[in-house]
Amino acid sequence: MNIVFDGKTSYNNVIDQAVSSARLVDFEGDSFVIHGDNFAVMASLLGKYKSKIDLVYIDPPFNTDRVFSVAADRVSTVSSSKQGEVAFADTMSKDDYLKYMYDRFVLIRELLSDQGSLYVHIDTKMGHYFKVMLDEIFGDDCFANDITRIKSNPKNFDRRAFGNQKDMILFYTKTHKNIWNNVRVQCDGDELAKRFNKIDKDGRRYTTIPLHAPGETDPSSPTGQPWRGMNPPPGRHWRTDPKEFDRLDSLGLIEWSASGNPRIKKYADEHKGKKIQDIWKYKDPQYPQYPTEKNFDMLDLIVKQSSNEHSIVMDCFAGSGSALLAAAQNNRYFIGVDVSAVAIGVIQKRLENRAYTFVDFDDLA
Ligand SMILES: C[S@@+](CC[C@H](N)C(=O)[O-])C[C@H]1O[C@@H](n2cnc3c(N)ncnc32)[C@H](O)[C@@H]1O
Repeated sequence: MNIVFDGKTSYNNVIDQAVSSARLVDFEGDSFVIHGDNFAVMASLLGKYKSKIDLVYIDPPFNTDRVFSVAADRVSTVSSSKQGEVAFADTMSKDDYLKYMYDRFVLIRELLSDQGSLYVHIDTKMGHYFKVMLDEIFGDDCFANDITRIKSNPKNFDRRAFGNQKDMILFYTKTHKNIWNNVRVQCDGDELAKRFNKIDKDGRRYTTIPLHAPGETDPSSPTGQPWRGMNPPPGRHWRTDPKEFDRLDSLGLIEWSASGNPRIKKYADEHKGKKIQDIWKYKDPQYPQYPTEKNFDMLDLIVKQSSNEHSIVMDCFAGSGSALLAAAQNNRYFIGVDVSAVAIGVIQKRLENRAYTFVDFDDLA
């Protein structure tokens, strides 16, 4: 299934166009903040960075038909009206917008390494077109998640529709070898007490889980074999080779009920945290430095989860530079691109004490 819009060309055509228009830039340095149009910049980056970037996060304009500005008198006040200094305009027709994004997604994919990931922050008005587009460009097997991001408190809209509290983040990988650091979240005290509701003789909190898990395995494999005369219940298999149960039992880590039912003991103080699910609550700053500035902690999580130390992280719709700052703080290299002089000013302020090279694309021949 492919998306159709006016002006669409093939994947290879987009690359040919980029290569033939690319300016030869000697990207000397490790991290960059680049002022310029991201198609032109990415076309030039291809020379040095094709298949080299481990993580791309983007939060492009959402095709809102609005002009976003920063009020001159109060730095913290950001409006989406036509008053104040224009930060960026988001006023393309739908077809032009889809073409503009398609062309950029192609170049992003070319720049991503084989262990690379792309996170696209978008709203639900455009997000479903992006899903089809990205399935086409990356392959639907490289779709990883559609993350629901709760962005605000409930609002009282006049519209004859439900309130809107969420946007979405589409997560794709270049291959199936993406960096995945299995970041977990800690449970708070109440949740820990609820989950680990038993206390042993030494005062340690614990819970118990069954020895078996859903699904049958090949009866000849160890996880399908009887253990101490017991078989896994129908439709289930042992969680692990039953030899491990003997070891756990010898350490007192199996709890036997009065009726002889064994369960594995799990201690709260050894709990590594919960797996992160696909509904995130990361509200955006109340006093942003830049229109549509995203929550820093969310970007910190994305950087930690899908890149390693010294990976290159790119945000080519960088805005206030939150993703770049998250990369820098986590010891990653970064490439930030924005066409807006206002955005570049905010980024430079936020990255004041960080090492990077600034490139102004408009000043290049
Ligand atoms: C929604 S904002 C990004 C906000 C950012 N995520 C943050 O947390 O501050 C989108 C940004 O994309 C930039 N932009 C739009 N079109 C661009 C283009 N063709 N090349 C580079 N930047 C572009 C805009 O200037 C704007 O700063």
